[in-house]
Amino acid sequence: MKVLVLNGPNLGRLGKREPSVYGSTTYADLVGMCERAGKELGVEVEVRQTDHEGEMVQWLHEAADQRWPVVLNAGAWTHYSIAVRDAAAQLEADLIELHISNVHKREEFRHTSYLSDVSTAVIAGLGVEGYPLAIRWLADKSRS
Ligand code: DQA
Repeated sequence: MKVLVLNGPNLGRLGKREPSVYGSTTYADLVGMCERAGKELGVEVEVRQTDHEGEMVQWLHEAADQRWPVVLNAGAWTHYSIAVRDAAAQLEADLIELHISNVHKREEFRHTSYLSDVSTAVIAGLGVEGYPLAIRWLADKSRS
């Protein structure tokens, strides 16, 4: 089984970006954490990040065609992108919507998600630790 971990805008700046909100783990560290989780669990994990909405939409199409489960931190697109939502809705396997911060404790505009109702589950507020947890859940599910 392969798990695709997709990250949207500004997440490549993890570690430098508002560390009081998102922590000091860098994007490179995050990639390492996800790949390590995959190795431990015996699943292939590929981590990608883009600041371009069309590229994200195309990656979601690829995941739909390949029937890969996806862990998606769509960043700000979560709150307004119908294009990302429509692409996510085409996934055949599980989709985990993920946020590093607890978006519900933050500004009102972050309380809306265009993804939650097309997702299997939502993880928010566990910091970067949410990523290996999501990968573990998907790996366990594929074995059951
Ligand atoms: C985020 C939360 C979003 O509101 C924000 O736009 C992000 C990151 C998070 O991981 O907490 O870019 O998805």
